[in-house]
Parts: sequence; structure tokens; C-alpha cells
Amino acid sequence: MTIAIIGTGYVGLVTGACFAEVGHTVVCVDSDANKVALLQAGGIPIYEPGLEELVKKNVQAGRLSFTQSTAEGIARSQVIFIAVPTPPQPDGSVDMSFIEGVAREIAASLESYRIIVDKSTVPVKTGEKVAETIKRYCRSGIAFDVVSNPEFLREGFAVDDLMKPDRVVVGVSSQRPVAAMKEIYAPFGAPIIVTDTNSAELIKHAANSFLALKISYANALAVICEAAGANVQEVTRGMGLDSRIGPRFLQAGLGFGGSCFPKDLSAFISISAQLGYDFRLLREVQQINADQMVRFVKKIQDTLWVLKDKKIAVLGLAFKQNTDDVRSSPAIDLCKRLIKEGARLRVYDPQGMDKARGLLPEDASTTYVDDMNAVADGCDALVIATEWPQFTELDLERARKTMTTPIFFDGRNLFDPIEMKRLGFIYQSVGR
Ligand code: UDX
Repeated sequence: MTIAIIGTGYVGLVTGACFAEVGHTVVCVDSDANKVALLQAGGIPIYEPGLEELVKKNVQAGRLSFTQSTAEGIARSQVIFIAVPTPPQPDGSVDMSFIEGVAREIAASLESYRIIVDKSTVPVKTGEKVAETIKRYCRSGIAFDVVSNPEFLREGFAVDDLMKPDRVVVGVSSQRPVAAMKEIYAPFGAPIIVTDTNSAELIKHAANSFLALKISYANALAVICEAAGANVQEVTRGMGLDSRIGPRFLQAGLGFGGSCFPKDLSAFISISAQLGYDFRLLREVQQINADQMVRFVKKIQDTLWVLKDKKIAVLGLAFKQNTDDVRSSPAIDLCKRLIKEGARLRVYDPQGMDKARGLLPEDASTTYVDDMNAVADGCDALVIATEWPQFTELDLERARKTMTTPIFFDGRNLFDPIEMKRLGFIYQSVGR
């Protein structure tokens, strides 16, 4: 198939590269001239394992190209994917201006039948609005179909998630685009769920909110476990082996962050309210997540007492492992809270340092350390804020010797409490 992807953020770029990889001809469109120039020169604007090689390979094979022109993308393609941002507004509802703008651009360039697919995460009924908008602004008599095809990829695992999806959701309002959508996705070998557009749009918000709910459930259990002297990892392991529950997304820690869960939860709560339902369950999911950070900071304060002028090492700035993304990162939130209390930080992240510089104060409160093993030198405490697996290889012997006091707060439960005590650390984690 010939495919245009409008928007080369995480979702758009990875989707474009993976579609090209399975043999489709893909043109990625972005309004940002610098981004297009970077991509054309073989550069990648984000860190995502496996993506750079995939882009390079498919550009060389002539299946993947980049342009700034929406009209060119549409002229060259049978199917147009919309993958532009849907950022949150201050009240939690979704800013739909990028989607509306793209719908109007598509309408202006439409010369003959095209399938327009929405991949961005959008409120239910957006497909109907996009169809109305295109109809209003395009030349009369041109046929088109609008399809909802939500993306479920996780940052850091995006290529894998896209190449091996659990399922593909296709929401349609007529049968005409179904064959083309099946042809696009056939090489991925996943079950394809064909449903109506509104249901497809709801599946995305329902799935992400449920995953966030699982994490908040684990974090609430962590509070109970601490009070009861139990171990949350043992409890969630025992729960997760029940195949009806499943082991994933039950890791207690500093709570969830990133550009999806917090935003999608707020959006779903706001959409539900507009539809006349107060989704209190999801409001509680948000509250548990917010409380988790407050509890963790209190743990640090209770142990160190005065934070002013304390030197604290923070391992992890990204919102999770395998990514350089620091947007809505619990680790950044934690750093800001510690800095506000007067602490001086030494921070390290395998990928997120550059992007963190824009979010943390640019003064003497934060020192960026390039070597993971040097970060704790001379510190009063060390905090693990992100679940990067390589943090488990930290030189603990060196940390214990070089720290002023060997106080260790593990916000992601990466280490074994008994072993850490044996090594001489004053060690605290979450729910254990
Ligand atoms: C999420 C969804 O997983 C994906 O399907 C959707 O398309 C986009 O949103 P993403 O935000 O990239 O993906 O990351 P994810 O791996 O889901 O992690 C989200 C947050 O939850 C991270 O901050 C992570 O640290 C946290 N998390 C995850 C936990 O605290 N515990 C867990 O058990 C799992």
C-alpha cells in the first residue's frame, strides 16, 4: 500500500518506519522544517531502541521518505494516517486544534477517494468530527472514509510493540476501507478487531485507564504492605499468576508518568463528565498516583530530617526505562520537590539528561554526572527514581564507601532489601 503519515512524533515516526519495514511505501509528513531536514539527513529526533536502524534501512530501500508538504503526502498515498499531538488543556480536556488543522489541510488537498485514519489518541466521536470537517472544506463530491485505528505502543518498546501487536483495532463507519486496513496490517500477524468508530476510540482510553488503574492498585497495596509488614512484590507476584489478572503493570513504585497515562486519564474523566458520568473510580486512580509521590518524599524527609543543603544523588530522570522522554516524569517531579526543600542534587540518566536540562532549574542546585557510579560520591543519600535495568549494576561497594551516609531510597524496588542491609545501607523501598 502507499501510505502517508502526518506527524512524525513517537507514534508517527515509529508507525511509518514499521509500515515501510513490512513492505509498504511510506511518506512521513511534518510541518517542522528542521525535523524533516534532520530525518532526510538520516538523523532521528528521539531515542527509541531499534528505530534509527529501521529508518535508515527503509530510506535506503526507497520505501520511506520525508516531506513538509501535506499535499504531496496525500497525492502519493492511498491511505493517510493522522498522528499529530492531542495535548491536554489546563482543565484536563484535550486540545483538538492540531487534529482539526490537519483535517482542514487534508480537505484542501483531496483530489480523489482516500482513506483517512486517525492514529492519535482522541476523545470518542472525534472520527465523526474529522469526517464533518473534511466534508465541509473539501471540493464537493469527493468520496473519503474516516477510520479510527488507535496505537498502543509503549515508548522504549515502540518498535517491538508495533511489529508484534496484541491486537489491531479498526473503527469504521462503512465497509469500504476495511480491505485496505486489513492489507496494511496483514504482515503483522495480529488479530484485527473491526468495530464502529466510537467504540474504537473508546477502546484506547479504556485500555490506558485500566492499565493506570492496575498500577494505582499496586501502589495502594504497597501502602497496606508497609503498614502490615508484608512485601508488595510478593503480593503482586501471587496475584499476577492468576491468568485473569496477569503479572504486568503491577509494579509499585513512584507512580506512573509520561505523556500518555496522566493525560489519557484526565481526558477520559473529562469525556465521561461531558457524557454525564462522574468516573470517580478513575479520579481515585489519579489521587493514589499523586499520593505515592508525596509519601515517598515524606520518607526521605523523615530519614534525612532537614533537606536544606543535603547532597542527594538521583538515578533516573526519564519517566521510565528505555526512553529519553522526561515529560511528566515522576523522577523530574521528585527532583523539583527535593530542590524546593533546599537539597542539592547530583543526577544521572542513561538517556534523559539533555532533555532534563530544560525542566530542572539551571543553577547550582543540580549537577549532571556522566558516570552512573560516580553519582553518589560525597552524597548524604541516593535515590532510584526510574526503573532502568542497568541501575541494578551500580557499584554498591563504591557508593557505600564514598557516600557521607549510606542512605538509599529505592523508588522502583530494584534492589533486594535484605542484601542491601547486609551491604551496610540504610535502605528503604516501596511497599516492602
Ligand atoms: C502507555 C501504554 O502502555 C501504551 O499502550 C499507550 O499506547 C501509551 O501509554 P507509555 O506511556 O509509553 O505507554 O509507557 P508505559 O510502559 O505504559 O509506562 C507508563 C508509566 O507507568 C511509566 O511512568 C512507568 O514507570 C509506570 N509503570 C508501568 C509503573 O509504575 N508500574 C508498572 O507496573 C508499569
